[in-house]
Amino acid sequence: MNLGALGINFAYVISAALFIFGLKMLSSPATARKGNLISALGMLLAIVVTLLASGLDYKWIILGGAIGGSIGLFAAYKVEMTSMPEMVALFNGFGGISSLILAWGAYHQHPQMSPFLAAIAFVSAFIGGVTFTGSMVAFGKLSGKISQQAVVFKGQHIINGAILAGAIGSAAIFCAVPGSWVGYLFFMVILLIALAFGVTSVIPIGGADMPVVISLLNSYSGLAACAAGFVISNNILIVAGALVGASGIVLTKIMCKAMNRSLANVLFSGFGTKTATSGTSDDGPQGEIRPATAEDVYYILEAADSVAFVPGYGLAVAQAQHVVRELGDLLEENDTEVSYAIHPVAGRMPGHMNVLLAEANVPYDQLVEMDDINPRMDTVDVCVVIGANDVVNPAALDDENSPIYGMPIIETHRAKTVIVLKRSMNPGFAGIQNALFFGDNTRMYFGDAKASIQALVAEFKS
Ligand code: TAP
Repeated sequence: MNLGALGINFAYVISAALFIFGLKMLSSPATARKGNLISALGMLLAIVVTLLASGLDYKWIILGGAIGGSIGLFAAYKVEMTSMPEMVALFNGFGGISSLILAWGAYHQHPQMSPFLAAIAFVSAFIGGVTFTGSMVAFGKLSGKISQQAVVFKGQHIINGAILAGAIGSAAIFCAVPGSWVGYLFFMVILLIALAFGVTSVIPIGGADMPVVISLLNSYSGLAACAAGFVISNNILIVAGALVGASGIVLTKIMCKAMNRSLANVLFSGFGTKTATSGTSDDGPQGEIRPATAEDVYYILEAADSVAFVPGYGLAVAQAQHVVRELGDLLEENDTEVSYAIHPVAGRMPGHMNVLLAEANVPYDQLVEMDDINPRMDTVDVCVVIGANDVVNPAALDDENSPIYGMPIIETHRAKTVIVLKRSMNPGFAGIQNALFFGDNTRMYFGDAKASIQALVAEFKS
């Protein structure tokens, strides 16, 4: 179909506008779902227009689209919320390899390209290759298919530096003579180096830091796509790639800030090399804990004027979001003011708690950000910590030797009473014990979060 350059670019402008509106709507839980749909519509429009304008052999495109679409649909429906980062890693990697193949295909078709275009093809293929293998390693670590430990050894940074230098040297030769067999040879060398560099740059990072790495690799995949857009002169690919690249970097920065760590510390410190200390070891705070039964907790909650739920990774593991909502409703019926305090890195992926609570239709106006609840924490009657640990650990405020020192936390220890729901005294993600559990105002309510809250709901109903 002949759409004409003007028609195609007009459709691309509409797509780009839909991407941008969609992205903007993702910034609030109230509009995020609609934002996702609007961005997806933008992508559908871009794909349809590109295909119609290209005059391709559609039977292969339709077959590929049907297979890819079915796999995506199946994976998205089947994936557990706790496994979402793994799926994002996998899809991210596919985005990277697409850019690599695209750059390779464009080069193969027109090997006599200018040095400038060759340089862009190098950027697309190299970043795409790094993104692919890096994302596969991230997927392997998150899914437990390979060791989560950070693999660090002496001279590692020098080796990685040498690999990078090799890539830049090969790129210089390739760009000088892209049309010759030497150029072709060095393009192949670049592909191999890229695939190797993705592995060597991600293995020194512990499994625990993988969500940050995935966000960074997501940004890389955007940059690779943006460069691929220049190689094949496709405006919407340039725009979409730039948006993914920029938003990925912003998200990475937000995550690092919320953990009070620099990106360099995430990438090069080997965090997670040491085995997590067991909660029963002599390390960290010790003291007397005050266990509570469902009945004890019921009486505390029943008498409270204000209750703040503080969800963490354990909420996701237990899939307790629906019963938490039920308990919240019962408390409201009892004239208790209910809120849900959200830490930006609670759980294992950005917005993890927001997604879970939205799934349970928790009213958005009950969600409170960390910076809003902390100043009034002394007035909260009861904080119910549900499977959260690091994000409420006071060591972040007062223990300079703690690995999480400096990380902003939800200061539940300042509430009048704290109820902690977890299964044992085991530590969380950072592998450290938590002084909150031994506080005078803390009661430990042990058990799986869902079962524990179900017991509370039963108490309220009886
Ligand atoms: P964690 O510190 O990991 O603590 C989770 C707690 O949940 C554990 O102590 C565990 O104790 C408990 N738990 C697990 N399953 C449970 C169940 N079925 N029922 C009840 N409790 C259960 O989680 P957090 O406080 O949410 O902190 C998140 C951590 O992840 C931070 O250190 C953050 O820096 C890190 N991180 C987050 C992200 C993002 S983007 N969210 C990215 C990278 C790193 P038991 O085993 O005793 O039950």
